[in-house]
Amino acid sequence: MALILGIESSCDETAAAIVDTSAPTLEHRILAQHIASQDEAHRPYGGVVPEIAARAHVEKLAPLIAATLADAGLDLSDMDAIAATAGPGLIGGVMVGLVTAKALAMAGDKPLLAVNHLEGHALSPRLADPALAYPYCLLLVSGGHCQVLEVRGVGDYRRLATTIDDALGEAFDKTAKLLGLGYPGGPAVEKLARQGNPRAIRFPRPLVGSGDANFSFAGLKSAVARIVQGGGEDPADVAASFQQAAIDCVVDRTRIALGGLSGMSALVVAGGVAANAAIRVALEGLAAEHGLRFVAPPPALCTDNAAMIAWAGGERLAAGYADPLDAMARPRWPLDPTAEAVRGAGVKA
Ligand code: KG4
Ligand code: ZN
Repeated sequence: MALILGIESSCDETAAAIVDTSAPTLEHRILAQHIASQDEAHRPYGGVVPEIAARAHVEKLAPLIAATLADAGLDLSDMDAIAATAGPGLIGGVMVGLVTAKALAMAGDKPLLAVNHLEGHALSPRLADPALAYPYCLLLVSGGHCQVLEVRGVGDYRRLATTIDDALGEAFDKTAKLLGLGYPGGPAVEKLARQGNPRAIRFPRPLVGSGDANFSFAGLKSAVARIVQGGGEDPADVAASFQQAAIDCVVDRTRIALGGLSGMSALVVAGGVAANAAIRVALEGLAAEHGLRFVAPPPALCTDNAAMIAWAGGERLAAGYADPLDAMARPRWPLDPTAEAVRGAGVKA
């Protein structure tokens, strides 16, 4: 049995969780978790303000960890390791979480796991679904990333595609802002889209049909801006038509990436945007087309959380990894360091 305390603070959620990696089902794996969202603090600015985020992490993290341990009826000495996001993300917040993990690891004489936030997302489907085996094809879609990866094992990723400009979550957030839906935007766009006609407006589908599998959302974002600023369209139709265009891009690009792979155990989606029900349905269809199982974690495990960090830490510990107490916080940290930068991108990974 391995009990891992996980800490997440790379963006605007402060989170702590205790995961028992040896439990057979998701239900029994997460012993306790707390997530403090900073949505209210950032809402007036329409996006995450790094300084406000870092300060909020400082204020909230220690009591949150204490509450998580108390909920589980455990204390630091019961933990087998301490895992924290060490990047990529907003550096101030990452440092708060990582330095806290280092202090706990030192005080409790426990191994430290400096976890790549993207690896947390990438392995979260294995936390949710004990039957998911390596290797699998992963679409990782979040606020900062849009990638297709071949997940071969812990720490072993091959990037097949990435965005050449914006991340998918960014496109959702921008559309929400244009429609006055506020922050965070993705869930609000999804909700409004349910009342609209996805075929009302013919938005562009950037790169659809191109030979490589890369993504692009900048042109779609500009087209939404033009339509909204032009006025006269029903906001629900704009949301639905935008979402449909985004889904068509995602499915087409992922199909190309899948075409270059064999021996995959499943098509998997993770990251904040994977909480979107319409995207999940479309990807399920794509998986079926390829005779693959489709796996998506429950929505609450798609958006940022500490259980996925604890889980990734547990997988790393089991694979024989541990990190020194001087492990660095990294604002950028690609999962596949051999992947070549693509035009205009790589900026965020
Ligand atoms: O993984 P995540 O929580 O944080 C990052 O690591 O970026 O992803 C956040 C992103 C945001 O852009 C948010 O708008 C988007 O995921 N998102 C959604 C939905 N829920 C969250 N996008 C579309 N539909 C949703 N239901
Ligand atoms: Zn994330």
